[in-house]
Amino acid sequence: MTFLSAPVRETLVSLCHEQETPFFVYDLDRLSQHLQLLTKQDIVKLWYAVKANPLSEIIKCLDQAGFDFDVASSGELEQVIAQGVDATRVLNTGPAKSKRQIQHFLKRGVTTFVAESINQVRWLQEAAVDHHVNLRVLLRVQLRWPEGEKNPLGGDTLTPFGLGVEEWQHLNLKDYSHLNFVGLHIFQWGNMLSTDKLASLWQAMVGPLQQLSHRLGMQLDVLDLGGGLGIPYTSDAEHLDWQVLLTALDNIKDAIGVKELWMELGRYAVGECGYYANPVVEQKTNYGVKQLIVSGGVNHLLRPAVTGQAFPCERLRQDDTSFAQFAIHGPLCTALDSLGSHSLPDNTDETDWLVFSQCGAYGFTESMPYFLCHELPAEYVIQQGKVQCVRQAESAQYYLR
Ligand SMILES: Cc1ncc(COP(=O)(O)O)c(C=O)c1O
Repeated sequence: MTFLSAPVRETLVSLCHEQETPFFVYDLDRLSQHLQLLTKQDIVKLWYAVKANPLSEIIKCLDQAGFDFDVASSGELEQVIAQGVDATRVLNTGPAKSKRQIQHFLKRGVTTFVAESINQVRWLQEAAVDHHVNLRVLLRVQLRWPEGEKNPLGGDTLTPFGLGVEEWQHLNLKDYSHLNFVGLHIFQWGNMLSTDKLASLWQAMVGPLQQLSHRLGMQLDVLDLGGGLGIPYTSDAEHLDWQVLLTALDNIKDAIGVKELWMELGRYAVGECGYYANPVVEQKTNYGVKQLIVSGGVNHLLRPAVTGQAFPCERLRQDDTSFAQFAIHGPLCTALDSLGSHSLPDNTDETDWLVFSQCGAYGFTESMPYFLCHELPAEYVIQQGKVQCVRQAESAQYYLR
């Protein structure tokens, strides 16, 4: 099974003839098609979680498809505005909203915020008074289930994302003259591949969220369910069915009685449009294990080291040789620099390129590019069949001082 369509393979082959260092390619034609499918409905309002991939051309594609934008930092905000997006179409989530950042967002004209602490609520009110504006605010809720009860979220890890019901319920909404509390936000899961599991998670939240809004005297106009929709990283993994998900979302909307359902999608929106091409440095056998050392590793693709899950990998050159299992290692001086164990043609050598798929989300900007002073990868897009370089590869001299 291959993750590479024939046209993408052809583009990669021709780029690899010209390139010597690793690079990313994003297939915007495929992305646009996928986004069209996501936005052809009126059940859930979609925001793009910019953290998944902040590249300008990706943002423009999401903009054209009708997404609004969820940003988590001043840097993401400026990048979105630089692509011509109006700040009124921006939502700000994230647990680290300093007073300074909030002031910056208001100066730039952002009016929709997910508050993740009591301080954030206070600081939003102060800034709103300063700027003579009213803000739309959602409270981010972190649920836990009582000891002994089955936790549908699959864990009891305390995170900094939002606050528990106990903490929120004492908030007096009337104290905040410039904040319009429109609803709640809840998102505590990642890369979910089962529609049934997602539907039952959402269903389990209805009761606690309704109780909280009741205690707060808040009319629940909006419920934001965050992201967390998964994509397959192996050829045998399930694919979420968007139409089935929409039915589940519609049911939640009815059950909780909200006017609007929102989601901020990252991985599910853009993950499948990206590829990372990586030259092989050498093949060797070590204690009986076949290893491939490659030019780029977790300096360009950190996710496998963080999650233990590799991106799908195949060799660009196609021939009829037999396959063997290879451990793939990047160039950094740490055992963490592993891109997984993959079945690849056994004659793979230093003339070859490997291609990692599903790299459109949480790829380059999630990584650790400066360690060991290797090159920064170039980024290309394919749009209307044409290839364009959005960012050149850069040597370490680009950033070293
Ligand atoms: C608040 C928020 N919303 C949405 C997302 C996007 O999640 P995903 O990429 O799983 O869709 C994230 C990711 O961290 C997030 O923190």
